[in-house]
Amino acid sequence: MSELPILQLAEKLHESAIIYYQERPVGTIAAQDPEADALNYDQCFVRDFVPSAFVFLLQKRHDIVKNFLVETLGLQKQVRRVDGFEVPLGLMPASFKVQSDADRQYLTADFGDHAIGRVTPIDSCLWWIIVLRAYGKASGDTALAEGSDFQEGLHLILKLCLSPQFEMSPTLLVPDAACMIDRRMGIDGHPLEIQALFYGALRSARELLTPTSEGAAWIRKIDERLKALRFRVRHYYWLDLDKLNEIHRYKGDQFGESVMNKFNIYPDSIPYWLTEWMPDWAGYLAGNLGPSRMDFRFFALGNLMAIITSLADSTQSQQIMDLIELQWDDLVGRMPMKICFPAVEGLEWRITTGSDPKNTPWSYHNGGSWPVLLWMLMAAAIKTKRQKLGEQAWMTASYRFEEDEWPEYYDGKNGRLVGKSSRKYQTWTIASFLLATLLQDNPEQIAPLIFDEEDSSEV
Ligand code: GLC
Repeated sequence: MSELPILQLAEKLHESAIIYYQERPVGTIAAQDPEADALNYDQCFVRDFVPSAFVFLLQKRHDIVKNFLVETLGLQKQVRRVDGFEVPLGLMPASFKVQSDADRQYLTADFGDHAIGRVTPIDSCLWWIIVLRAYGKASGDTALAEGSDFQEGLHLILKLCLSPQFEMSPTLLVPDAACMIDRRMGIDGHPLEIQALFYGALRSARELLTPTSEGAAWIRKIDERLKALRFRVRHYYWLDLDKLNEIHRYKGDQFGESVMNKFNIYPDSIPYWLTEWMPDWAGYLAGNLGPSRMDFRFFALGNLMAIITSLADSTQSQQIMDLIELQWDDLVGRMPMKICFPAVEGLEWRITTGSDPKNTPWSYHNGGSWPVLLWMLMAAAIKTKRQKLGEQAWMTASYRFEEDEWPEYYDGKNGRLVGKSSRKYQTWTIASFLLATLLQDNPEQIAPLIFDEEDSSEV
């Protein structure tokens, strides 16, 4: 145990996670576990850097975030081939690493072409835009995003996300494991996590684009898409007792424009646990939606980011916080908070995960508890003026980190076991604790990280 108070200890550990490129700080490594095989945890992951970036912004260390944005922008422009296939330009890497030879340093990046399972890191480019907006708001340096190289970077991402595809839906269609849950978990299609980040990224891009002729064309597309995306998620992903009653009595196989059961969800697909678990007055956004498919699992990142980005309207946001409060033991337990609830088990686990031994029930992505979600819970609590819930989560978590050596994730239905393959000294655990603490102490500093509620009459 260290002699330092926990906050100072966390600051020291966060500091030692910073990586330098040509003597400039450019990011943080994923973990500093002295005992585990590094694999790719010695790289800077774009998604893992988000809470670190927000901590640096709140500490007014804007240069680190700027360097990160500049270097990742450079990586975005790299032409890449996988087995002879040219990967579309615009994606941001999952992670990058500083390497050196005799006389120079250089960066290498993983766009999923090295990652376990060759998963596409679609969330990276969405988080990147959200960080770029936060950087401008916190530092006052709006010139960075206005530069032609950054505008081009934004256009490339928007082209990937907004170009016509084989799609009838304003939500973004993605393969499985394209986000924080980067292993097969049955989240292909239109998962909530991606939709919440997509919404945040579009709202950020809307603020950042300069109205050149190309910029103005993207702004028009974004305005249309935001409206349709908001409508789709707020109306069709929403679950509460009224909605369950409605689905429970749905008629199947309806054809035509004005039918009730548009996605042909069969009542029998409502899992039994939910009929008992859903409180009378609370609700949440479903994990995914597609033909005859509603993923009824609760996904924390998607729901919390829906609050933070205002993808959920203010009533829905309150009801999601109500659910977290009422189902605290299941969703928060002893470590804020569970990445999804409930876990898939038995044959369903085999089919959903491909018999993944890391994602056994109540572990890792399959119902494991992730301290990184603490900052999002704190931010959502502040935004909805439910600070007490954030404080309660902070109290539950904070005293365990030092003794447990800042684990990546926890296992078990109540989150009391350190994850069986969990890294120690995981940077986003440390950064999330720091960020949650900074926000708890200075709630007014949340502004660059959240998005105002827009005029609901637009919907
Ligand atoms: C795991 C997580 C992923 C994270 C990475 C590095 O693969 O699932 O979300 O970015 O570890 O910490």
